[in-house]
Amino acid sequence: MKHSPKPCYVIGVISVVVILGSVAECRRFNGIEYPAINCRKHSAVLTDFGGVGDGKTSNTKAFKYAISNLSHYASDGGAQLVVPPGKWLTGSFNLTSYFTLFLQKGALILASQDESEWPPLPVLPSYGRGRDAPDGRFSSLIFGTNLTDVVITGANGTIDGQGSYWWTKFKQNQTKLTRPYLIEIMYSNQIQISNLTLLNSPSWFVHPIYSSNIIIQGLTIVAPVDSPNTDGINPDSCRNTRIEDCYIVSGDDCIAVKSGWDEYGIKFGKPTEHVIIRRLTCISPDSAMIALGSEMSGGIRDMRAEDITAINTQSAVRIKTAIGRGGYVKDIFVKGAQLHTMKYVFWITGSYGSHPDNGFDPNALPQITGINYRDFTADNVTYSARLEGISKDPFSGICISNVDIRLSQEKKKLQWNCTDVSGVTKNVTPQPCDLLPLKTEAHDCPYPTDKLPIDRLQLQTCSL
Ligand SMILES: *[C@@H]1O[C@H](CO)[C@@H](O)[C@H](O)[C@H]1NC(C)=O
Ligand SMILES: *[C@@H]1O[C@H](CO)[C@@H](O)[C@H](O)[C@H]1NC(C)=O
Ligand SMILES: *[C@@H]1O[C@H](CO)[C@@H](O)[C@H](O)[C@H]1NC(C)=O
Ligand SMILES: *[C@@H]1O[C@H](CO)[C@@H](O)[C@H](O)[C@H]1NC(C)=O
Ligand SMILES: *[C@@H]1O[C@H](CO)[C@@H](O)[C@H](O)[C@H]1NC(C)=O
Ligand SMILES: *[C@@H]1O[C@H](CO)[C@@H](O)[C@H](O)[C@H]1NC(C)=O
Ligand SMILES: *[C@@H]1O[C@H](CO)[C@@H](O)[C@H](O)[C@H]1NC(C)=O
Ligand SMILES: *[C@@H]1O[C@H](CO)[C@@H](O)[C@H](O)[C@H]1NC(C)=O
Repeated sequence: MKHSPKPCYVIGVISVVVILGSVAECRRFNGIEYPAINCRKHSAVLTDFGGVGDGKTSNTKAFKYAISNLSHYASDGGAQLVVPPGKWLTGSFNLTSYFTLFLQKGALILASQDESEWPPLPVLPSYGRGRDAPDGRFSSLIFGTNLTDVVITGANGTIDGQGSYWWTKFKQNQTKLTRPYLIEIMYSNQIQISNLTLLNSPSWFVHPIYSSNIIIQGLTIVAPVDSPNTDGINPDSCRNTRIEDCYIVSGDDCIAVKSGWDEYGIKFGKPTEHVIIRRLTCISPDSAMIALGSEMSGGIRDMRAEDITAINTQSAVRIKTAIGRGGYVKDIFVKGAQLHTMKYVFWITGSYGSHPDNGFDPNALPQITGINYRDFTADNVTYSARLEGISKDPFSGICISNVDIRLSQEKKKLQWNCTDVSGVTKNVTPQPCDLLPLKTEAHDCPYPTDKLPIDRLQLQTCSL
């Protein structure tokens, strides 16, 4: 559905100068259109609220003032806040409902390295403690909780987390609170994050948690490949997530699907379910293109990934779990992967360890079943597969079909190293392990043909 260009709504104009300024902005934006889950009736520019785009002045107050001001339009068609070209230094700020943050081309949001600009938050209930340190955590640069209908988008504007400060601190073991993420949205419904370049997050980049109906599109995410825990996109205890057309270079997993940690995740009990990933490109030499876990104690089910590409990446889709996690990873479908320079094509780890504390239940065994991979080509591979279940808790229902793996000069002798797993294979080279025998039926591994509700959601064309 296309909306005709909207008139400009000038909000709370107090002087003629501001009126003229706003009209000028309005003319400058004319013709800029963008896709979004919802368009907004009201529009304002960061400079209306005292924003200074010199790369030195803190805009934390300008963002807070702007967003609290625009939150009053939630019940009147919502509002969008435009970040114009310039360098906008800021600390953490909170979003509001029925709201769009739009970064124009040439807009660069720079994260402050002053810790007093990052308020502390309590630890996540499904984790029980912070990831870097047991106590609280810093709130993310862009944070939202208990929201409905939030869009963070732009004409490929940039958000730079300036993470080097935090990486050094982390490596020197000086983090007393868990490092901030770049964008975190909690307990929310209807979220879009799209058409942006995200750089150098202090830790994870995009973290939707306890949320539903999430669309992530057209993100370019880049961090140094040796930066600690710079995961790209981590849907965590979320329902209905669609991730498309993203390009990710990072020091950790490009996408990590999660759902809570050991006894805390089991108690919280919120799975991640119905995830679609398509047209992902990943470079991550020491991590996975898509990881499931290691925190998966609330369960992960129904993930569909297709047309995915990894270059110089440790593994393609990796399941990471451990005794004590409980939960499950089931109904996982991957179709169409092109892989270049991989340590492992297939990797499942049942002994990941990494517990929040000693209170985990040694009888809480994860259930890993219904794992379907088909139509993979890979070249320059060291190991075809390392598939390690848990003794007395074998991982079952693994299906791998139509896979062509070309090995590197450094290839290892044992190409398929399988323990405590069961399943079938068809048309796979090099020849798989005995635990995954050739199946006789003529079908490839399944990939669902039904459309998930999040896939039917169409974006509207909005204008500035
Ligand atoms: C919004 O900001 C304008 C100034 O830009 C101000 O005049 C107006 O009172 C503010 N409105 C609210 C609801 O805070
Ligand atoms: C954002 O909201 C959270 C939770 O309501 C609060 O603790 C935090 O201080 C807020 N952050 C900012 C920057 O205002
Ligand atoms: C946000 O929602 C959660 C879950 O419904 C609730 O426990 C929490 O109190 C809410 N927080 C706020 C600030 O409303
Ligand atoms: C955002 O990206 C989509 C493709 O992912 C493209 O169709 C659209 O034109 C882009 N919008 C802007 C404002 O750049
Ligand atoms: C967005 O910007 C990044 C970094 O400058 C660039 O690599 C990418 O190609 C751009 N994406 C689009 C859709 O223009
Ligand atoms: C980091 O700190 C923790 C707890 O304070 C300690 O157990 C650990 O040995 C330290 N590591 C290094 C490398 O200093
Ligand atoms: C093949 O992989 C090795 C690492 O195993 C790497 O050093 C080499 O550059 C890769 N070759 C090509 C042609 O990509
Ligand atoms: C096979 O996998 C097991 C379990 O992951 C590991 O301990 C062992 O070292 C591997 N063997 C080889 C030869 O790689």
